[in-house]
Amino acid sequence: MERRKVLVLNGVNLGRLGVREPNVYGNVSHAEIADRLVSVGASLGLQVEVRQTDDETELVHWLHEAADGEIPVVLNPAAWSHYSIALRDAASQRTADLVEVHLSNIHTREEFRHHSVISAVASGVIAGLGPLGYELALQFIAARR
Ligand code: DQA
Repeated sequence: MERRKVLVLNGVNLGRLGVREPNVYGNVSHAEIADRLVSVGASLGLQVEVRQTDDETELVHWLHEAADGEIPVVLNPAAWSHYSIALRDAASQRTADLVEVHLSNIHTREEFRHHSVISAVASGVIAGLGPLGYELALQFIAARR
């Protein structure tokens, strides 16, 4: 049976995981997280593709691709969460599930991180559970059909 496709999309600075503020974001690299999500996804019957970009336009285009293909998305919009109306408008166009994930608990951090402009158009939000948050988001998507 063909596996259902899911896009895991990571925004700005998340390619620096493992070296970036390890006390906040941990020691695991983006590549390691991506490998794990592909295999966890396969065990859930999902075909997971993980992408990361520091280019907001590129992320907007990936969200268009997800909207056009009705592809579920796990999205960590990183710093863009807090101010990108362009990403919010792109995320609003989706019809399939979109789960917003943050590695850190944005609500216990600086005040400017407490609000995400994406959350109101997400199916759900996971914050503060580290890389496990992505796996839980995949479990949710797998359980949806
Ligand atoms: C983040 C939280 C954001 O506030 C921050 O800008 C990030 C990562 C997280 O995963 O915890 O880059 O989205």
